[in-house]
Amino acid sequence: MKQMIIHGGKPLKGDVWIGGAKNSTVSLIPASILSRTPVTLEGVPRISDVDNLTYLLESMDVTCDFKNTTLKIDPTQIQMKPLPAGKIKSLRASYYFMGALLGRFGRAVVGFPGGDDIGPRPIDQHLKGFVALGATVENEDDQIIISAPKDGLHGAHIILAMPSVGATMNIMMASVKAKGQTIIANAAKEPEIIDLATFLNNMGAHVRGAGTDTIRIDGVDQLAAEHPHTIIPDRIEAGTYVALAACIGNGIRIHNIIAEHLDSFLAKIEEMGVVVDTDEDSLYVYPAGDLKMVQVRTEPYPGFATDLQQPITPVLLTAKSGEGVIIDDIYPKRIRHIPGLQAMGANIKVADNIILIHPSPHLHGARVRADEIRAGACLMIAGLMADGTTQIDQADNILRGYDRIDMKLRKLGAEITFKTVPDLRKAVMIDSE
Ligand code: EPU
Repeated sequence: MKQMIIHGGKPLKGDVWIGGAKNSTVSLIPASILSRTPVTLEGVPRISDVDNLTYLLESMDVTCDFKNTTLKIDPTQIQMKPLPAGKIKSLRASYYFMGALLGRFGRAVVGFPGGDDIGPRPIDQHLKGFVALGATVENEDDQIIISAPKDGLHGAHIILAMPSVGATMNIMMASVKAKGQTIIANAAKEPEIIDLATFLNNMGAHVRGAGTDTIRIDGVDQLAAEHPHTIIPDRIEAGTYVALAACIGNGIRIHNIIAEHLDSFLAKIEEMGVVVDTDEDSLYVYPAGDLKMVQVRTEPYPGFATDLQQPITPVLLTAKSGEGVIIDDIYPKRIRHIPGLQAMGANIKVADNIILIHPSPHLHGARVRADEIRAGACLMIAGLMADGTTQIDQADNILRGYDRIDMKLRKLGAEITFKTVPDLRKAVMIDSE
């Protein structure tokens, strides 16, 4: 188990560069097996989710070579083998192997993905999509077996019950080589969906409408990568650094961003009174003056991202007066950061899935736990603000999704270390993805 130790209370200053989007990367790596030629991904974040996904690829004889931020994946010798159950259970994004294997082999045998710690995370819409394409879905010994009919998958008109990111991506991967046209209606519109579509189209796929709520996919016979694909910047990592800069920054420039992807988040931050200068591909966050409380409600893109409600919470704690409100309609149970914040002296509580926040000018260090990735990010920001020492247990969850966080924070002047300690609970860690 990793522990993150933070000696807080020091203003941070300088420049930080954002890595490639985790939530693109975790779909692009499985999608690579759809190519009949080697794939090169550039701008790949150095996060443990990537290590776990490449481990799964290697278990199917796909070679992976990850240097700096370039990941070369050679799926030309791929063998259809059962994926290691342990890794599947601890990695939510392993569900993308369902769509990718189905698209490549017409069959996928994948364990139930783990991750229940931000509330229930069903995959009924993913499975509904596969069935509409002609597949059968069976459950056996904690595994899902998805099989295409003998004559292969066929296009279908699929209306999602909600704009699910995972279901949209999984159906795109499964249908990209199906016969005929697939239409995904009420599709998710997140930038990561567009990134996946760009990747597939550059390999010869015919995906139109990604980024709108209707995606049309005309099946093609085969896909072949010819050029490297550069992953879009991580808007959630960028938002986390904006929040950190608003809480404890003394002038921080955040590079490699697409500001439009952060519109709703920046609107909220600016409503609080934080001053942000936006350039073509960077943001400068000025040291904050007196901030106002706000109300935040999460929504599918382009609304305020659920993944940023926890990172923005410490900013609300710095407001001078009033009551702040956060309502997460996408994951109402995403509240596992609250006990840690309370232990650090925050005046925050949950009433009927509504998070109520009061000004908390003096946070102090405490021993807390990162139960999932964004809870970890929230506690990390709070720890950087707090006087004294904060110890975050299960900091592995932060490393799952924040690219080279130790190096980036130290460069901004933070006093932090990550320590490896034995996990005395001997529990299997359940990830949030
Ligand atoms: N949902 C269903 N049935 C389904 C699929 C989704 O009921 O079959 C519900 C979910 O329970 C949720 C809502 O629909 O209430 C949206 O879920 P979605 O499927 O969009 O989420 P996801 O694909 O599982 C991705 C990100 C999450 C992010 C959500 C929402 C990845 C790997 N994960 O999850 O990222 O919170 O979209 O934007 O892309 C994170 O990065 O911290 C993270 C959790």
